[in-house]
Amino acid sequence: MILKKISLINFRNLKKQTINLDKKTNIFIGDNAQGKTNILESIYFLALTKSYRTNDSNLINKEEDFTKVKGEIKDISIFKNLSVELVNDQKKVKINNNEINKIADYITNLNVVLVSPEDINILQGTPAERRNFLNIELSQLSKNYIKKYNEFNKILKIRNNYLKMLYNSSNPDKRYLDSLTENLIDREIDIYQERKRFIDLINNNVSKIYEDIIGIKGFYITYETNIEFDNFETNYLKEKLIKKYNDSLKKEIENGMTLYGPHRDDLKFLINNDDIKIFGSQGQQKVGIIALKLSEIPIFQEFTNSYPIILLDDVFSELDIKTRNKLINYIPDNIQVIITSNDTKGINKKFLENAKIFKVVKGKIIEKVGDNNGK
Ligand SMILES: Nc1ncnc2c1ncn2[C@@H]1O[C@H](COP(=O)(O)OP(=O)(O)OP(=O)(O)O)[C@@H](O)[C@H]1O
Ligand SMILES: [Mg+2]
Repeated sequence: MILKKISLINFRNLKKQTINLDKKTNIFIGDNAQGKTNILESIYFLALTKSYRTNDSNLINKEEDFTKVKGEIKDISIFKNLSVELVNDQKKVKINNNEINKIADYITNLNVVLVSPEDINILQGTPAERRNFLNIELSQLSKNYIKKYNEFNKILKIRNNYLKMLYNSSNPDKRYLDSLTENLIDREIDIYQERKRFIDLINNNVSKIYEDIIGIKGFYITYETNIEFDNFETNYLKEKLIKKYNDSLKKEIENGMTLYGPHRDDLKFLINNDDIKIFGSQGQQKVGIIALKLSEIPIFQEFTNSYPIILLDDVFSELDIKTRNKLINYIPDNIQVIITSNDTKGINKKFLENAKIFKVVKGKIIEKVGDNNGK
């Protein structure tokens, strides 16, 4: 898919402008704090209706009280206009000017894979950040996932409240709890299966990419559920979950919360058997994340029949030339890429030759006409 055009109003320091993007490579050049990352963030916001680095309210320009991001996308031969608008804590999401009430119906329309300095949190941050990674990617890939995940969260909240109530109740009604547990398990099975499938698909590519970039064998990801499963088949999962919740009833009532389930999942990033978070060098960790993101590209293609848009925030400045060259080999030719960088020096020729280059100065974007020789 291609983002042909994006229009911004009051998005952070970007006041009002329209950017016509090239269907292949786009490079935004500028000094620090000019608005380069804000541009990528606005595209991410258009795709996912939220930012990866802050709350909604911080996205609105400080002097204004609303922001709107509009985009025109082309997927195969279908054109769509998407928009996301924030006004007074309210979010309006539209496709072709029709308001969409369910986010699940919106976010599969524009798919992005972002590589940014914040990604290191996937490795170094809390399990919640790794689950967030899974949720974001799977929400783009699967309508079923986001639907089941939203339902799961609603039921989980009710079940937790009910467990708290049972703790204080002298004559508890377990039947209601049983029906909540049954509904919860139904959603959990899908979440477990979709996460497992996604991680397996990543593992099909990721160690090869990692080895190719950095010359080290044996990089892979493990799916760490807080219930031990022998496999992820529906009937097996169902039985196992029913038993787990039965066996843990007393403990869950005492704690007033659901102790087992995909809301406690985690991921581990390993080289052979060593946790890269503990043993990996900074470079090894950075490349690990890049390999992870690159390994997603063919998965998007397979699931959606279309490549995602690749957003590379300041990726080149921190990598040595050899690593940069290896990295770009994994970006297919017919894919749209949007890159930010302080200058064009660090960017590979392959990208520069046909790129559309923009300069970003104090929140203003200027197209550099006829200058694509990297100077
Ligand atoms: N809500 C907001 N209203 C106005 N300005 C904002 C808002 N949020 C952020 N900014 C400003 O936007 C500017 C540009 O930020 P951005 O992260 O895009 O910089 P950048 O060009 O990517 O810089 P660097 O090269 O350092 O990463 C910053 O100076 C920041 O203070
Ligand atoms: Mg930046």
